[in-house]
Amino acid sequence: MISKPAFVLVLLIVSLLGLPFVMVSSLSAATVKQMELQADEISTLATGIRSYYADNVVARLQKADGQAVFSENYRDVHGGIPIPATLSIELGALFDSAHSDGRINYAFLSDYPFAKRDVPPLDGFETDAIGAFRKDPELPRYVQLERSWLGRSTYRLATPVLMRPACVTCHNQHPDSPKKNWKVGDVRGIQEVTVRGIQVNGFGQLGYLVGYAGLLGLVSVGATATFQRQNKLLLSTNDRLREGSRREVDLSNQLRQQVQELSLLGAVVENATFGVSIADMRQDDYPLIYVNEAFCQITGYPKEKASGFNCRFLRGPDTDPITVSEIARAIREGKAYSCELVNYRLNGEKFWNRLTIYPFGGRPGKPDFYVGNQVDITSIRTFNDLASSQLIAIRPSIEAASLQVSQSITFAQGLRDQLACDDALTAEVDQFLNAEQSSLRQLQGSVAEIQDLIRLASAGQQHSPQPLQDQSL
Ligand code: HEC
Ligand SMILES: Cc1cc2nc3c(=O)[nH]c(=O)nc-3n(C[C@H](O)[C@H](O)[C@H](O)COP(=O)(O)O)c2cc1C
Repeated sequence: MISKPAFVLVLLIVSLLGLPFVMVSSLSAATVKQMELQADEISTLATGIRSYYADNVVARLQKADGQAVFSENYRDVHGGIPIPATLSIELGALFDSAHSDGRINYAFLSDYPFAKRDVPPLDGFETDAIGAFRKDPELPRYVQLERSWLGRSTYRLATPVLMRPACVTCHNQHPDSPKKNWKVGDVRGIQEVTVRGIQVNGFGQLGYLVGYAGLLGLVSVGATATFQRQNKLLLSTNDRLREGSRREVDLSNQLRQQVQELSLLGAVVENATFGVSIADMRQDDYPLIYVNEAFCQITGYPKEKASGFNCRFLRGPDTDPITVSEIARAIREGKAYSCELVNYRLNGEKFWNRLTIYPFGGRPGKPDFYVGNQVDITSIRTFNDLASSQLIAIRPSIEAASLQVSQSITFAQGLRDQLACDDALTAEVDQFLNAEQSSLRQLQGSVAEIQDLIRLASAGQQHSPQPLQDQSL
């Protein structure tokens, strides 16, 4: 498919290439016109000269019966002067020698040449012209234009040479005359003027024009190529732009999706039931940059009172200093850490905090952030405390009971030893003793169980540090 600019260019090239041809053709038309005029003038002039010579020189001299002798050989005859035909023939030769470039020819010819005249036979145009004049005595002229694009145009003009009374007499009497029955009005021959176009009419000079056209063509082709390349460049830029905008749309869709996911995660974090706090480890003293709603609820600190401060504001007199130093060490080493410690709400109220912190972002050992999770475990801790204190409280009484049982066993054993003789009584005491011993075993079992429970409870109360795996989100 040809694009519009290419079409315009082709049109331009064609018209530029056509320019020399238009120039040449108009030039050649002008030249031909000029050739016609020139041939006419020469012909008229030659006829005029010959007539003038025939009427005013030859006729008058003949009438005067002078010494003049009219002869075609006038040079060889004493007092000889040329007859009109010779004048014309010699005029033609004179004319031809004056135009050595062969641009203009003058000829005085006939189809009945005198015997002595050594002339080439007539060509087609000349024969045709004589024929035409003989056929139509009124015909004043016979012309031919040989147009040639690559050579030179030629304009040939023939006018009839008619016999007049004076001519007839001599021609019919002259010994060398090839025909002796000439009548007045006969076409004796023709006078022919040939004008050839100058070089520009032919395509000689056209070399320059062709060169010029070629140059124009080259320039045009170059321009077309440049335009085409420019066009291609534009098109490809356009493609790239389209591709870019498509990518942009893709990116913005991705971005929108990510923002949506982020806000979803944000909502999850914000609404979590445990506290979430984020500290910026790149800033001095690691201030909190985010705390969620649960953090505020657990600690009683509103966001604006927590954000921008190090989380140590939750510490108080009963916070275990060893635990705090272990947190500090974990942070120094960039590790995760989990512990339970006593913290204080804004209103001064104590609470048990199960704290987990873990690094996020940055390099290993030097995180950009720390994330903290706070869980209020006060109720669990209080229940444990309560259970163990109650156990501790009942231990003495159980121990007292077991002591009493063992004492009564000792007593029963003594009693059985004393009553060893009485079989019936001994049997009863043995029975009692067995029962007491099994009670004692039971009691001792209970005491051991209670002691286990107390140990367990107090062990749960103790902070038991447990390192977590580093987490990355
Ligand atoms: C005195 C005699 C004489 C007269 C008058 C005369 N001619 Fe001729 N003409 C001749 C001769 C002789 C020649 C040959 C010329 C040559 O060979 O140079 C000739 C040649 C010609 C030719 C050329 C023929 C050829 O050889 O091809 C023509 C045409 C011609 N004459 C026409 C005329 C006409 C027309 C007149 C009248 C105006 C005329 N002549 C008057 C003697 C005469
Ligand atoms: C993200 C994060 C959350 C924290 N949360 C608590 C907390 O809830 N309670 C607390 O007593 N200490 C918390 N800490 C620890 C303190 O901010 C502080 O680092 C620690 O008490 C050691 O402090 P020091 O530099 O004063 O020794 C947290 C630390 C970080 C990095």
